[in-house]
Parts: sequence; structure tokens; C-alpha cells
Amino acid sequence: MAQLWGGRFTKETDKLVYNFNASISFDQKFYEQDIRGSKAHVAMLARQGILTQEEKEQIEQGLDGILEDVKSGKLAITSEYEDIHSFVEANLIDRIGDTGKKLHTGRSRNDQVALDMKLYIRDEIDETDELVKNLQQALLKIMEENIYTYMPGFTHMQKAQPVTLAHHVGAYFEMFIRDRSRLSDIRKRMNTCPLGAGALAGTTYPLDREYTASLLGFDGPSGNSMDSVSDRDYVIEFLSALSTIMMHLSRFCEEIITWNSNEYRFVEIDDAYSTGSSIMPQKKNPDIAELVRGKTGRVYGALMSILTTMKGIPLAYNKDMQEDKELTFDAIDTVKGCLALFTGMVSTMQFNKENMEASARNGFTNATDAADYLVNHGVPFRDAHGIVGQLVLTCIDKGISLDELPLEEYQKISPVFEQDIYDAISMKTCVEKRVTAGAPGPEAMKKTIDSYRRYLQGNETGK
Ligand code: ARG
Repeated sequence: MAQLWGGRFTKETDKLVYNFNASISFDQKFYEQDIRGSKAHVAMLARQGILTQEEKEQIEQGLDGILEDVKSGKLAITSEYEDIHSFVEANLIDRIGDTGKKLHTGRSRNDQVALDMKLYIRDEIDETDELVKNLQQALLKIMEENIYTYMPGFTHMQKAQPVTLAHHVGAYFEMFIRDRSRLSDIRKRMNTCPLGAGALAGTTYPLDREYTASLLGFDGPSGNSMDSVSDRDYVIEFLSALSTIMMHLSRFCEEIITWNSNEYRFVEIDDAYSTGSSIMPQKKNPDIAELVRGKTGRVYGALMSILTTMKGIPLAYNKDMQEDKELTFDAIDTVKGCLALFTGMVSTMQFNKENMEASARNGFTNATDAADYLVNHGVPFRDAHGIVGQLVLTCIDKGISLDELPLEEYQKISPVFEQDIYDAISMKTCVEKRVTAGAPGPEAMKKTIDSYRRYLQGNETGK
């Protein structure tokens, strides 16, 4: 047990207590951020005359050596240390001797861990954003290829009106725009540096907090030092944004699972992204989509967990806050894995365009357009609605679609109908006439696609 404290203790820590308290098994994940933070701290200490230039260089070299050796696998992070901060400091002292003991001047593990967590999350926000962007790129490609792929649009899981595959996929593109903008907002809001807040009340050394903040890419130092060491809002916000990303992925997965079912056959998931059954030879299951949908609960769990942990914590740092790490790390790994796999799955998926279009053709998705035809000929909408309702009933009786119903039958119910009704309710007309901004009509869709292309060329996180 290599501890950073012990002076005031007369006994060794109980082994079980030590293990219960230790965080090295998980906080080793941010060894790189911990060393980055320490280097900035030391650079500032030297600039302020608190350390000599020589001491600074020695410490920097020691820290660089640790970083290199951990990265290459030469130096293992073991449970002999309580946490990553102890590991780095103890190894530094081993390497460069007494000068290493000066690293922690004017610093507490409380501001140190707050800094590490912020650096880690900031890096992860950027990586998550990149993955969502890759997914958007895959979606845009599907949109570009499917402006004229007709399919039924649903409400209440009942066929409603015809849309296109480009339009359906575009709905998800929009969700991911909002997700990325949420990530970007969080990044901006969290970008203040807690280093220099000390244990809770600042320090008596003349630290230059502006300088360390700028070295580490922050907009400036955080405010109140008590808040600085006990703020985990950014963890909560990030987990909330991750939960929303998962909710979007999960909805999409649910649709893909339905579309891939024997009944729908709208899509065929690639063999590389499907699995078989150990007993039923005919099966090809959408396990990846199901797992992404399933893992959504796990990410929500992380959010609920940290919210609950934080609600009872008085100011300032309390050890409860160590609980933020495992769940955050797990959520991040889960979401990143899901995003990458989902992108692979949708980009290799085959769309059965004929099945989609056939499904849009039967199910009366053009009934609204038949009513609109009457309205265009002077019939009030409410009456038109009733007339078309009767026509639909006739069709259901005969087992045919509105397109197949003879003109005499139309005219029996309303003399307003003429031969041009068939053109007015064709799939092509139904979709093409929907030209308002955000609608599936090709003219509107081409504009939308153009704007998405421009969006993807821009830089959304404000990095
Ligand atoms: N492992 C701790 C954490 O994750 C580091 C901070 C420890 N500070 C302390 N005063 N015990 O929160």
C-alpha cells in the first residue's frame, strides 16, 4: 500500500478498507490527463518562482518518462497505489528523488481529480461528436440515394401518408444535429479550470490560475473554489446528452428490427452485422440493433446513479464523488461502441425498395390526397373527409386500393371526381406535391440535403 498520507496515523489501514477506498482500478483510465494537468501545474509553479527552472525540468522529464512507459506497457499501473494521483507521484519520486516531492505544492487531490475528470470528459465529448458526425455522414449518403424511394409514413404504427426513405432517415439526421449541439453547449459551459482551487479554499501560494487554465485549453479558471472541487454538473450534463443519443439510436434500432422482420422485409441487415441461432438454422437475427436498444437502459442507469449520488452531498468535496467515475467511463465506452457499430450496420444495410413502395401503395396512404382533390374542386374539407372515408370503406369491402377503384364507384359517392383523380392520388404526386420546407417532396428534400452537406462541412462543437 503506497499512500500519500500517514503522518497522523498510528495504525495501518485495514486491508478491506484500503481496497474499498481505492480507485486505482478505474481512475487509471485518465493517467494521461493526470500527467497533462501536473505538467501545467509545474510549469506555473516555476513561472511564479515557487519551483526553480531546474526542478521544473526534472519533474517534467520524470512525468514524460512515466507517460511513455505506461503507454508502451513498460510500466504497469497496479493496485499497490490508492489512485492514479498516488501512482504518478510515487513513480515520480522513485525516478527523480526528492524533487518529485514538490509536485503537489499548492495542490490537493480534490482540485486535481476535478481537473482530470474535466479533461477526460472534454476529450470524450470531442470523440463522441466525431462518431455522431460519422453516423450523420452515413445517413446523408442514404438520403442522397433515396429521394425517390417511397415508403409508408406511420402514426400510431398505422400507415398514414407516403414519405420517402430520404425523409425518414432525415428525421434521425435532425436528432443527431441536436445531439451534437448539446455536446457543444456542454463543452462550452464546462470549460473552466478547477486547478488552483486546492482542497476547497484556494491556497496561500501565489498561483497563477489564468496561466494553468490557458495551458490546458480552458477559457479561464473556475470561480468559487468550493464549487470548483465539488461541481459535477458537467458529468450529469454529459451523461444526459449521452442518454439522449442512446434514446435516438434505440428508436432507430427499434425501427430497423421491425423493418428487418419477416413481415416487413423493408431492409436486410448485412450478414456481417447479423447473428444466427444455435438451434433454428433459418434464423438471421438483428442482435446488434437489439443490443444497442438494450444498452440504452444501462446509460440511463449511469445518469440516474450520478444524479442520486450528488443530491445529498454537502459542500465541498466528499468521497461519494469518487462514484462518478466507473459509471461515466462505462457509459462513454458503451455509447462510443454503439455509435460505431450502428454506423457500420446502417451503412451496409440493404433497402428493399420494392417492398417499401408496395407497402406504401396498400394501406390508403393516399386518402388525404383524395380528400385534398375534392377540396381543390370546392368541396369543404370536412365533407371531403367523409366522402373519402366512404370510398375507403368500399375499397376495404372489395379488397382493393383507391388507385384500383373504378371511376363509376368514385362518382357514385361524389360526382366531383373525374379521370384525373388517379393522377392526383398516385404515389409520385402524393410525395412530389409535398414541397413545404421539411417535407418529403424532392424539391424540398434536395434543399434539405444541401443544407446537411453544408452543415457537415462546418464545425459544430466549436472546438
Ligand atoms: N479518488 C478520489 C476521487 O476520485 C480522488 C480525490 C481524493 N481526495 C480525497 N480528499 N480523498 O474522487
